[in-house]
Amino acid sequence: IHSDAKLEDPFTLAQKDLNHLYDDIKKELFVSKSELKSICDYYFDGKGKAFRPMIVVLMARACNSHSSRDGDLLPGQRSIAMISEMIHTASLVHDDVIDGSDKRRGKTTINEVWGERKAILAGDFILSAASVALARIGNNTVVSVLSQVTEDLVRGEFMQLGSKENEKERFKHYLDKTFKKTASLIANSCKAVSILVNSDPEVHEIAFQYGRNVGIAFQLVDDVLDFTACASQLGKPSATDLKLGLATGPVLFACQQSEGVDQTNYLAQHYCQEAIRQISLLRPSLERDALIRLTQMVLTRDK
Ligand code: FPP
Ligand code: FPP
Ligand code: MG
Ligand code: MG
Repeated sequence: IHSDAKLEDPFTLAQKDLNHLYDDIKKELFVSKSELKSICDYYFDGKGKAFRPMIVVLMARACNSHSSRDGDLLPGQRSIAMISEMIHTASLVHDDVIDGSDKRRGKTTINEVWGERKAILAGDFILSAASVALARIGNNTVVSVLSQVTEDLVRGEFMQLGSKENEKERFKHYLDKTFKKTASLIANSCKAVSILVNSDPEVHEIAFQYGRNVGIAFQLVDDVLDFTACASQLGKPSATDLKLGLATGPVLFACQQSEGVDQTNYLAQHYCQEAIRQISLLRPSLERDALIRLTQMVLTRDK
């Protein structure tokens, strides 16, 4: 048990591995001085929460400790942290076109500044650069695990365009969509870093399940915040789901005559407990404990 609370703070602990994150990404987005380069670099200004890379490096170090491997991250693990942020950002660039959003990370969106056509191409370019970096790791299993993420993102986003009639089906559809849209990226990134250090499928499954459960909890909280927080707090428009005609957890629960917001928060708690149960199967380490603390932060965040 570590008594120094600061040591287990996920942000503090992951910091040293994330110092060069945005510089590394900009190097991957190499196109000689051009408008495409400016558009692609636009969101890599250090204003994002970089939640995914943080979870990825903590998971990598937790798995390394579990496998009795001391010292630095493996180069491939470091790349996966970067790739996770690139895939995420590419999907947000496209998402803002689909949703017609004008604000992201407190800035005017790419589609608003440069127009939709250039935004789509910039998203494609960031995704392509992520694929090049992924191939460079030189591990086929890792390539296939992270390629699954892009498939899931598109399918999740597509599912969101249409909803199911029957009440039970609707909820299952919502959770399935939530996994694909949000949790698959973090689950598969966690799995990928575990694959590079350990050949035991049980360890891969622990890493995947931690990411899956935290990712779903995170999105459930996000759906609550869309109802309860205001735009200036979020740095992006709020109450957007309803305006877009999307029924998320709070509304689906409210349809079943219960407190939508409370029930959704309750469900998020349940997913966090499962994430803790999974990660606790790894041997103790500072990073493992930070991942446990992180589940608490997911539940209590207000933006
Ligand atoms: C923007 O990402 C929002 C989404 C992609 C929708 C929901 C995702 C989350 C709420 C977070 C995903 C979960 C985990 C476990 C990391 P973001 O809120 O991370 O925004 P940012 O990258 O602009 O900071
Ligand atoms: C944010 O959701 C969006 C996503 C989590 C995924 C979007 C995925 C695509 C557009 C498919 C294309 C994928 C790639 C890799 C190019 P939101 O609209 O609920 O959240 P927001 O409030 O942050 O906009
Ligand atoms: Mg959106
Ligand atoms: Mg959207």
